[in-house]
This record gives sequence, structure tokens and C-alpha cells, in this order.
Amino acid sequence: MGSLRIRVVEDAHELGRAGADLVAEVIAAAPTAAIVVATGRTPMGLYAELAARRRSGVLETKAISAVQLDEYLGLEPDDRRSLFGWMHRSFLEPLGVRDDRVIRLPLDGDLEGACAAFDRGLEARGALDLAILGLGRNGHLGFNEPPSDAGSSTRRVELSSSTIEANARYYDGGRPPATAVTLGMRQLLSARAIVLVVSGSSKRTIVRRALEGPVGPAVPASFLQQAGGDVTVIVDRAAWADGRAS
Ligand code: GLP
Repeated sequence: MGSLRIRVVEDAHELGRAGADLVAEVIAAAPTAAIVVATGRTPMGLYAELAARRRSGVLETKAISAVQLDEYLGLEPDDRRSLFGWMHRSFLEPLGVRDDRVIRLPLDGDLEGACAAFDRGLEARGALDLAILGLGRNGHLGFNEPPSDAGSSTRRVELSSSTIEANARYYDGGRPPATAVTLGMRQLLSARAIVLVVSGSSKRTIVRRALEGPVGPAVPASFLQQAGGDVTVIVDRAAWADGRAS
């Protein structure tokens, strides 16, 4: 079993710096690291910090591989509201990750077969080096909506109404699609390292449930308590209300 470390930081700005330190350490040790890249608002400061370090020449990111975490179904490939579009603008482009180093989720055809082949392909590469994850208000990781068990694989999912509502603010005011593809819990939990970034008072209840509550499919992020690799949770004071851990 791996380790779980909770690091409480002052605010979203410090969260970005602390997260970037950790990601930079992984890349320094493994320049060709395969890294799962979450979208969502929380890791944006982290990605901006990585990009700033790259620009100033202290970080080299061009040899890493980026693995897509989740994506809506039914969008045109160039729809800028897609999670890939967001990942491209916030991570791939600023960090100079070329297209041939991006591992994208399957989105059409026989999805069940394509997802199984995708997982076999990932497993053949060896363990993922790092997963950068955010926390859904309902405890999801990626789009592993409750209930999702620890062994769930990459698959098509129906999004809950709470997730659709939460993500509408990132969707140009419209309603995001109700179906998506997500990397499975099994793939995420077997990463060598995981960094979960959590910010803001709206995550207070769920972050405690995930880290201190019972482990089970009702809160998929609770499986981080049993992940095989090293899990670091970076949480700001607004989310970790009484600051018990440090
Ligand atoms: C979305 C994404 C997740 C993300 C989560 C948290 O539903 N599918 O990958 O981590 O929400 O987003 P935010 O960081 O904006 O709170």
C-alpha cells in the first residue's frame, strides 16, 4: 500500500505553487513521465505555475506524455468547450507537449471495445507516473461518478445532475452533455503518484468525507485512502475548514 499525505496551504495561489513543486519533482526524476491531466478550475494555477517555470528555463516538459482524464460525448472534435480543448489551452500548449505525446480517450465507434483496448494499451506502457486530479462536489474523480468501485475501468458514464450543474459554469452558459468517457478508477488508483488538489469552501464537506470517511463506491475519491502509490492531497484553508492537518 502507498502513502497518503495531506498538505494544507493558505490559498489557491499557494496551492498552485505546492502542486507545481510536486509535479516538477516527478518530471525531474522521470522526464518522460506519463501524467494524467485533470481539467476543472482547481489545477489551473498549478498549470500556470508549471508554464512559468518552463518559460524561465528551470523546467523541461517536452518529453512528458499527457493522458486525458475525461471527456464529454457528442461534441465536434474542435469544440472549444470540450475538456480536450481546455486541456490543450491550459496544459499541452503552454508546456509544449506535442500531439504525438498525448494519449486521448476513445470517443466513438464501439466504445466498450475501444475503452477495453485503451486500458490494455495503457497497462502495456506500465504504471502511470502521476495523476493530477481535482475533486467533484459529489466525490467523483475524473467522471467516475458515485457509485464507482475501485476496480472500475475506462468507460462511458452518465453524468449526475449535480455534476452537469456544477460544470455548466465552464460551458459557456449552456448545459454540458449528459454522457462522457472517464479513465477508470483502476487506472487512476494504480498510478505511482497522485496529487489531488482541492480548493474553496464548497469542497469542505466532501474532502473530509473522501479522506476521513468510510471507503466505498458512494464517494469514489475515498478509494485514495487505499491507493497503491503515493497520494498527496493539497488543500487550501477554505476547503480544510479547521486546519487540523498540516
Ligand atoms: C469536473 C471534472 C473533474 C474535475 C472536477 C472538479 O467534473 N470532470 O475532472 O476534477 O470537476 O472541478 P473543479 O476543480 O472546477 O472544482
